[in-house]
Amino acid sequence: MKTTLIKEAQRVLNVNYKEKGYSIPCKGLYPFQWLWDSGFIAIGFAHYDMPKAKNELTTLLSAQWANGFIPHIVFHEVSETYFPGPNYHRADLHPLSNKEYPSTGMTQPPVIGFVLEKIYQIAENKADVLNFIKENIGKIYNNHLYFYTNRDPKNEGLVYIYHNWESGTDNSPMWDGIWATMNSPEYSFERRDTAIVDVSQRPSKREYDHYLHIVEIAKKHNYNDQKIAELSPFLIQDPLFNSMLIKSNSSLIELYKIIGDNDDKIAQLQKWQEKSITSFNHKLFDPELGAYIHYDLRNEKPIRMVSSSSFAPLYAGIPSKEQAKELVNTMLTKFGGKGMYLCASFDPTSEHYNPKKYWRGPVWINLNWLLYYGLLDYEYNNIAQKIKSDSIEIIEKVGFYEYFDPRKSEYNNKTKGYGGSNFSWSAALLIDLINN
Ligand code: GLC
Repeated sequence: MKTTLIKEAQRVLNVNYKEKGYSIPCKGLYPFQWLWDSGFIAIGFAHYDMPKAKNELTTLLSAQWANGFIPHIVFHEVSETYFPGPNYHRADLHPLSNKEYPSTGMTQPPVIGFVLEKIYQIAENKADVLNFIKENIGKIYNNHLYFYTNRDPKNEGLVYIYHNWESGTDNSPMWDGIWATMNSPEYSFERRDTAIVDVSQRPSKREYDHYLHIVEIAKKHNYNDQKIAELSPFLIQDPLFNSMLIKSNSSLIELYKIIGDNDDKIAQLQKWQEKSITSFNHKLFDPELGAYIHYDLRNEKPIRMVSSSSFAPLYAGIPSKEQAKELVNTMLTKFGGKGMYLCASFDPTSEHYNPKKYWRGPVWINLNWLLYYGLLDYEYNNIAQKIKSDSIEIIEKVGFYEYFDPRKSEYNNKTKGYGGSNFSWSAALLIDLINN
């Protein structure tokens, strides 16, 4: 059974891999290279085709900007099935943007640091992968330097995101309050996503107006970070995003130790790390909710809701043992009800929860993967195993979809997953979960 599943996962990855050496998340809906998707995909490839894993990261990093920034989408091909494309985003307006690869002017969760460590752990030929890491680690270090220099206006060790598309959890109810503060124009544009996926599973037209409005503001100022920090109506310290950065800092420290001769970099990373973790626990932990929360930097207020992102700090070693215990308790009481697969992307006890809609409730395999390893690190082995077996079970039942209904009752013979099918990171991370 497991071997068939792994074969099927490899088939999905192989189909989505393009000649130029990168993978699309899935056909039709997402026809380009996405930052954090590529990271997760590389982990899957590392288990059976290391050259592809390396290519995946090489193509992504070749689109890096001169200031260390790595864009969230790299538009390697022209495509008619995607809006908004490169001519809308106009990343070239930024003076330091990459002139060779058209991209967006926003980024995504900084996973590549820990992906490098992960592929090193998976590698049979350690020397070969270490050489690859030596060639590329400086780029990731520069990327982190970019974040701490440009995305932390109050020097707190916590970086902001200026767009919901930077969060990776694009349509989370976390952002609803921000949309309510915005008075975006009604844009006229042609959505392409809803021609491919049922409207009930995707964001609304009005939400898209807000998404575009933020890009308009950023473009007006040529994607200047200071201007964005000053003017973007969306400015959030996101616990998932910051956890990815902190985990990646740790991985860079470990890798630099293996490489040797980089004491200055290690010292700087450790400095960032201490400050970030202290602020994170001080500012983003909500003892009453027993969870980490998002902070709205624009309107200076915490967003007191719980999502699967609230537990991601487990993966980065951020919570104390006591905090971890509270997190697990919150996860089990709110998300772990009878008849529920772990882990819904949004609090199932909330009025904003929607088990079918994008990041408003469905299970996502990448979040499950992070939680699985995070729970293992804190020695919650049983819950970790449950997240792993739930992930495998839903994929076995319906296939490699983009997201899944958390309610077990929904899975009968006719049930399908939601969003895109033959979805790369669901396949890649399943391979890693099974092999672990
Ligand atoms: C959606 C997801 C985002 C992902 C992208 C490509 O926009 O919200 O996290 O990177 O699809 O798969």
